[in-house]
Amino acid sequence: MTRKVGILTSGGDAPGMNAAIRAVVRTGINKGCEMCGICNGYEGLIRGDIVPLTARDVGGIIERGGTILHSARSEEFKTHAGRQKALDKLTENKIDAVMIIGGGGSQTGAHELSQLGYPVIGISSTIDNDLYRADITIGVHTALNTALEAIDRLRTTASSHGRVFLVEVMGRECGYLALVSGIAGGAEAIVIPEVETDPEEIASEVLSASRRGKSHAIVVVAEGARYDTEGLAAYFQKHHERLGFELRVTKLGHVQRGGTPTVFDRFLATRLGSFAVECLADGKHGIMVSEYEGKESFTPLSEIAANQRQLDLGLLKLARILAE
Ligand code: F6P
Repeated sequence: MTRKVGILTSGGDAPGMNAAIRAVVRTGINKGCEMCGICNGYEGLIRGDIVPLTARDVGGIIERGGTILHSARSEEFKTHAGRQKALDKLTENKIDAVMIIGGGGSQTGAHELSQLGYPVIGISSTIDNDLYRADITIGVHTALNTALEAIDRLRTTASSHGRVFLVEVMGRECGYLALVSGIAGGAEAIVIPEVETDPEEIASEVLSASRRGKSHAIVVVAEGARYDTEGLAAYFQKHHERLGFELRVTKLGHVQRGGTPTVFDRFLATRLGSFAVECLADGKHGIMVSEYEGKESFTPLSEIAANQRQLDLGLLKLARILAE
């Protein structure tokens, strides 16, 4: 069995990362491993920013958002020289294997480290829910609930004033957060990067909602869509006289990444953190662990780096039917 295990959180933080750290540390200790934290993502690894982690060090963190190990996006790690420096630090600190908690960019980094022959296990965590072979990643549930609460609040004020609201949600190039929060929030229209949207089509959906007696319209827009909130707002303002509706824009931004993880995210993070250590104890590495087809699964990092999760576009049709 591996003797000393490092844990690193990388890329955009996600609610539930701390629960995953706690599960990795305590399961590792249970298996007789020495555990350590690598602070500030790959950037901290290159600098050798490494601290020991005991069972007590990870006490009182399961309910905390963010990551106690901090996170970063590292340009240096994208270079061969940077990855070599990272590898040297792992060897220097006698760390036998590393767990990398993060999303797409972080798992690609994990794959590259693993290609150098070093034992790595990725743990799927990103609010974007864009990872291949993952039904739902750590942080998504909390982010969705945060977006949903905002949409619910915005609808009441939109309704009072008879206004149209464009609500921008995160997700990078993936429309999952927009699609699910839009459906659950009863949006009149949803705009996602996966489907080319004509602003005139959105305008006519909004006008049609008004003709059907609705006193408001909520349009949930994914940040990565070709027409994002700024693009749509500019178009609607340009055609204001013809369209005639009053518009407001709310960007939810990083609010979606913060806050207390839901029970779902804590439980998911705990199961995946623990499963990652079990996989390592079984001699597996070069994999990412995720919830897939309803259970804990592992997939080679090479596949994760080469593929993207496909969104169920049938949900967009459902959203249109339900907006009636
Ligand atoms: O990948 C998570 C995410 O929150 C994306 O949804 C968003 O596009 C990006 O990170 C924002 O990154 P940063 O925190 O570096 O601004």
